[in-house]
Amino acid sequence: MLLPHITVFFLVVGTSRSSDTIAVHQNISDGQTIVSANAKFELGFFSPGSSKNRYLGIWYKNTSPQTTIAWVANRETPLIDTSGVIKLDNQGNLTLVNGSGKVIWSSNSSATGTNMNLVAQLLDTGNLVIKNGNETNNEIVIWQSFDYPGDTCLPGMKLGKNFITGRETYQTSWRSTDDPSPGEYTLSISAVKGEYQQVYIRRSSAIKTRIGPYNGVSFSGRANYAPDASPASVSYVIVNENEIYITFISNSNTTTLRTVLTPDGKLEILQQKFPNTEWILISTLPVDYCDIYGVCGPYGSCNTATSPNCGCLKGFELKNSDDTSPDNGTSVCRRGTALDCGPGEGFQKFSSMKLPDTKNAVYSSNMSLSDCAVACKNNCACTAYANPNITPGGVGCLLWFGDLIDVRVFPQNGQDLYVRLAASELSDLHASFHRKKRVVMVVTLSIAAVLTLLGLILAFYIRRRWKKKSYVEREGRPKNTLNKGDSSQIGSAEVPLFSLAKISRATNDFSVDNKLGEGGFGPVYKGVLEEGQEIAVKRLSRSSGQGLVEFENEVICIAKLQHRNLVKLLGYCIQGDDRMLIYEYLPNKSLDNFLFDESRKSLLDWPQRFQIIHGIARGLLYLHQDSRLKVVHRDLKAGNILLDYQMRPKISDFGLARMFEEGESEADTKRVVGTLGYISPEYAMKGHFSVKSDIFSFGVLVLEIVSGKKNKDFVHEDHDDNLLGHAWRLYREGKPLDLIDECFGTSYSAYEVLRSVHVGLLCVQHRVEDRPDTQTVVAMLGGEGSLPSPNKPAFYIQEGEINSPSILPLLSSSVNGVTFSQVDGR
Ligand SMILES: *[C@@H]1O[C@H](CO)[C@@H](O)[C@H](O)[C@H]1NC(C)=O
Ligand SMILES: *[C@@H]1O[C@H](CO)[C@@H](O)[C@H](O)[C@H]1NC(C)=O
Ligand SMILES: *[C@@H]1O[C@H](CO)[C@@H](O)[C@H](O)[C@H]1NC(C)=O
Ligand SMILES: *[C@@H]1O[C@H](CO)[C@@H](O)[C@H](O)[C@H]1NC(C)=O
Ligand SMILES: *[C@@H]1O[C@H](CO)[C@@H](O)[C@H](O)[C@H]1NC(C)=O
Ligand SMILES: *[C@@H]1O[C@H](CO)[C@@H](O)[C@H](O)[C@H]1NC(C)=O
Ligand SMILES: *[C@@H]1O[C@H](CO)[C@@H](O)[C@H](O)[C@H]1NC(C)=O
Ligand SMILES: *[C@@H]1O[C@H](CO)[C@@H](O)[C@H](O)[C@H]1NC(C)=O
Repeated sequence: MLLPHITVFFLVVGTSRSSDTIAVHQNISDGQTIVSANAKFELGFFSPGSSKNRYLGIWYKNTSPQTTIAWVANRETPLIDTSGVIKLDNQGNLTLVNGSGKVIWSSNSSATGTNMNLVAQLLDTGNLVIKNGNETNNEIVIWQSFDYPGDTCLPGMKLGKNFITGRETYQTSWRSTDDPSPGEYTLSISAVKGEYQQVYIRRSSAIKTRIGPYNGVSFSGRANYAPDASPASVSYVIVNENEIYITFISNSNTTTLRTVLTPDGKLEILQQKFPNTEWILISTLPVDYCDIYGVCGPYGSCNTATSPNCGCLKGFELKNSDDTSPDNGTSVCRRGTALDCGPGEGFQKFSSMKLPDTKNAVYSSNMSLSDCAVACKNNCACTAYANPNITPGGVGCLLWFGDLIDVRVFPQNGQDLYVRLAASELSDLHASFHRKKRVVMVVTLSIAAVLTLLGLILAFYIRRRWKKKSYVEREGRPKNTLNKGDSSQIGSAEVPLFSLAKISRATNDFSVDNKLGEGGFGPVYKGVLEEGQEIAVKRLSRSSGQGLVEFENEVICIAKLQHRNLVKLLGYCIQGDDRMLIYEYLPNKSLDNFLFDESRKSLLDWPQRFQIIHGIARGLLYLHQDSRLKVVHRDLKAGNILLDYQMRPKISDFGLARMFEEGESEADTKRVVGTLGYISPEYAMKGHFSVKSDIFSFGVLVLEIVSGKKNKDFVHEDHDDNLLGHAWRLYREGKPLDLIDECFGTSYSAYEVLRSVHVGLLCVQHRVEDRPDTQTVVAMLGGEGSLPSPNKPAFYIQEGEINSPSILPLLSSSVNGVTFSQVDGR
């Protein structure tokens, strides 16, 4: 029996209006909002992040305002209190005034003409428009928020330049998540007349990353460009006499997209699939070293698959032969042989490239590739050419004059680039044929024969290689045979096997920068697959000793476990001693990052925390009971609860938990794994575990979520009890509400808090049989009936009681005696 939805309640100040318009002289004050016709967007006042300042903004209606603000009016002039009022004057000027009547922000718009029927309206696109006239009477838009983008670009918004007014629109990052005033980063299209279109992310005026050029379909140059995003959206580049701009639209009724330029200068493309309200990050830029603009210098070529990443394009070499790699300063690439515009000069083709910065290029739309080659060849200053257009049959010609900058290798979605080289630098085969032109016929023929033979051998070899390779690639492609919502075919599940090379590339060779942390079973790395998907790679400790078959069986079992409150397994990797599990990546990291961090804990308000408690309980119920396998997690703790975009919890690390056979309900182990502070007494002392030992850990977690304090590190000035003892004490003294995290202030539901503390205490009872089962826990959290009184909790495990915890990998199977694997190293 699963319970219906939890009611999440937000503290709404004031009342909501259901209209989507603001009429002349109508006042909207803080607490009131206007809502677009189909309730997609809402306009009103909000405070970002942990800020107390008030801003007038537009947000997505059915998601939490903190995370999905689409537009902000008074970015630079916050209100310091809730006295703000918006009104539309009879000239069509929308103004925001504070409590003293001082104008904080205004649209500065004014209507011309006489028959006015002025109104400000919030459209379902998220655009706030001020209109004059109406459908029957020459309606014109005199102002729109879409002309003033902030950090977010919505479908239909234009970024570019109007050549008549000279006005340029671009995305600007927020200063921080708490401060929407313009930050250091901007994202803009190169809006110089005649220049080919590409997009730059700049920090102040310095280019940090270049996206593009436009390839007729989208902006190329994104390593993690997610192909599945393309059917849902189309980007357009519009160039005409008067303006140049880029825009994108969603061409699907079931998905929508937005792009955000984050305070640290990353472009994030997020997608929402209805009816889900969750935003999924489908692409980020920059993601790797090669995304740093011009990182390898002129004529350098960046490749994440090589080490070092920077090298010179073929035909170019390092200026200083002692250098190992070019970069944007010390050593640069230069031509092996200078150009002299001689007749032998030709073009070297480079495939799978991100085309160089088109700042130095000239574009002709109607030229075929062969015409393009001739045009470049005939102009001694032309250094390279390419057809940027990848649409089927699409033509176009880019001619570069000057240095080639910001080139990188893109195995999956690169394009062909033809670079001018001196005759002697052109490909050896090509050159040797040139030199041997005058050799007698017989010799030519015998060479041809040898070459043919060689070619045949080579072809045979390549074919074999190719077969092997395509097999590996086929293996590597995630297959969705599992998510049919049916787990009846255990054993036939296919879990994608990833190659070590692929994982290595995705994680930048397991670089320290990509390391997310150290879990109980080894380090965890963040990675980005070539397809763009972000992953978390758990590299299991080498000395596991577990057999291959057992490991594969376990992976298949894990893959069967699919629930919204469990982290999803995407695949695995085995190579030699290396074992890796590949999971979906969750950007908000783990619960402990918020809960126990003074600066971030306020980001989790009570409704969110209550939702997290519920989510964990439901995930646990699934593991314990609802999945075909019965799984005891054994290491439930805040560090193993990951949070998605909406702060929804997902239990992780369950993959290496113990799976029970049908009919089995408890077991003993000689290897106790778990974390101090969360581990139940019977498990710690006797190695005895069951779903009730998970329930114990869950109880600890609930009390931690309520209090924002860590059981293990808990100290109190009045007594020596741990958090459980403290909660028990408060409960007995009749003041359990004193347990709550101070950062809530008064905004919480006392009923929910009391209920949570009560359930938490029931779960941490000393006697196993006193603790409720998982289904009861879920029912109690959501229900209204009275609850049994808890008995004394087991709170004897305190730091210091366990001497010299040794760190053992869970997978080892030949350890005697009870040992703690203290996995909470953070
Ligand atoms: C709107 O507010 C102004 C003062 O800011 C006040 O003079 C006016 O009466 C208000 N109008 C309405 C309709 O409440
Ligand atoms: C309104 O803004 C002015 C100027 O910024 C400031 O002096 C005044 O204190 C503000 N009044 C209120 C009620 O916020
Ligand atoms: C409106 O005009 C004022 C004064 O010219 C200016 O400071 C302000 O930035 C303008 N507001 C907008 C939204 O353009
Ligand atoms: C709009 O209102 C503001 C504040 O009253 C004022 O400074 C600005 O000049 C007005 N703009 C127009 C075009 O009326
Ligand atoms: C349109 O505007 C005219 C003039 O203000 C008004 O008479 C008419 O009723 C309006 N029509 C609608 C549909 O609002
Ligand atoms: C989307 O909805 C519109 C109007 O409801 C309809 O005309 C169109 O065919 C739909 N498009 C798709 C792809 O379903
Ligand atoms: C190259 O650029 C990167 C990023 O802008 C910077 O960190 C690095 O120091 C630069 N290298 C040199 C040699 O200037
Ligand atoms: C390109 O070719 C098409 C058809 O041949 C022609 O209609 C168009 O005007 C040409 N455009 C340019 C810019 O030359």
